[in-house]
Amino acid sequence: MAEPYLSASAMRGGYGKADILNGCTLTVDQGQIAVIVGPNGAGKSTAMKAVFGMLNLREGAVKLGGEDITRLTPQERVHKGMGFVPQTHNIFPTMTVEENLEMGAFIRTDDYRETIEQVYHLFPAVADKRKQNAGELSGGQRQQVAVGRALMTKPRLLMLDEPTAGVSPIVMDELFDRIIEVARTGISILMVEQNARQALEIADIGYVLVQGANRYTDSGKALMADPEVRRTFLGG
Ligand SMILES: Nc1ncnc2c1ncn2[C@@H]1O[C@H](COP(=O)(O)OP(=O)(O)OP(=O)(O)O)[C@@H](O)[C@H]1O
Ligand SMILES: [Mg+2]
Repeated sequence: MAEPYLSASAMRGGYGKADILNGCTLTVDQGQIAVIVGPNGAGKSTAMKAVFGMLNLREGAVKLGGEDITRLTPQERVHKGMGFVPQTHNIFPTMTVEENLEMGAFIRTDDYRETIEQVYHLFPAVADKRKQNAGELSGGQRQQVAVGRALMTKPRLLMLDEPTAGVSPIVMDELFDRIIEVARTGISILMVEQNARQALEIADIGYVLVQGANRYTDSGKALMADPEVRRTFLGG
């Protein structure tokens, strides 16, 4: 069997002495959508930070496309093909939408105009506001800017920490549709979601994380069908 595109295995580590991640493992194949769900404080954002290199791991390894990148900085990981949208502070509110996208292209030395156009094509609402400050946009539009910004480096793996936080159900569905569209182009998606049911619906693989460890791992459909998972994590 081919190796998964992202393989983050047995990650252990935290912010101080106590570990937040207790052997967490996450893998994503090329073009797959992987979804992490779990209670508040389970370590979902911490796991994302660890995959992106923002956390020193005490144990475990992160491999991308077969290459061990465990020791690389976040910026080096961007060069290797990772894009990350953090849970908070994921846009520059006092810069225009277009400037936000340009900032996203910071590592590019080639012409990124075409990528900006692709982002506008993906998110027409954002295109309409390109000259406005990002801070003036609605919650859903801001999240689109944040995702667009991450797409500017043409990542092979797009990591999204709660992309639908604070948006209405309709905007959430819309955003999920766009994420599916991105995955269909061959980009792998690793996403944390509070809207667990809706996210598992579109997940090729789902992870239920509890106290920094994998509690359940299965296809999104199988997790949704598991009575124990439903009762404990999906509200029945
Ligand atoms: N920068 C930090 N410094 C110290 N502790 C932190 C830091 N960030 C998070 N923690 C702690 O790590 C634990 C896991 O937090 P994390 O943000 O990863 O959870 P989460 O699963 O993403 O939760 P949520 O669903 O609320 O976003 C929590 O106990 C939190 O207090
Ligand atoms: Mg979080």
